[in-house]
Amino acid sequence: MAGIDSTVLDQLRRAALEAAAHAYAPYSKFYVGAALLFEDGAVFTGCNVENVSYGLTSCAERNALFRAISERGAGKKIRVIAVANRNGAASPPCGACRQVMSEFVTPDAVVCFPGESGPETKAFAEIFPYGFTLEPRDGRR
Ligand code: THU
Repeated sequence: MAGIDSTVLDQLRRAALEAAAHAYAPYSKFYVGAALLFEDGAVFTGCNVENVSYGLTSCAERNALFRAISERGAGKKIRVIAVANRNGAASPPCGACRQVMSEFVTPDAVVCFPGESGPETKAFAEIFPYGFTLEPRDGRR
């Protein structure tokens, strides 16, 4: 898939699963981790952090991204988003995370996540085709 080595995908999935070990999820008990591979080879991980108010919960994927930007700015794009959870369940990135990621992915970025029947790897453009943007898209005007 889009020139990403399967060993690299495995490493990222493992990194995401390790990150999920730090998840703060006392309410849902759903422990999520994410590992982002950037175009320069850097990897940043994150886990979900819940809050008793529920609505203030922050997903693993966004936490990984915000961590990366906080540490070194937004100059590098994401090539691979790997998601894992410690619940043995399917967990594709939620819609909010897809929208947020959409500003920071390369055009050929891929997403791997636990699907209903095993690991799935999809093009980011396939799982988030109509994100909100203020930029005109090709062919629209
Ligand atoms: N969660 C994530 O971390 N990433 C997602 O893409 C979807 C959901 C978290 C939020 C909450 O802490 C728990 O999973 C259950 O929804």
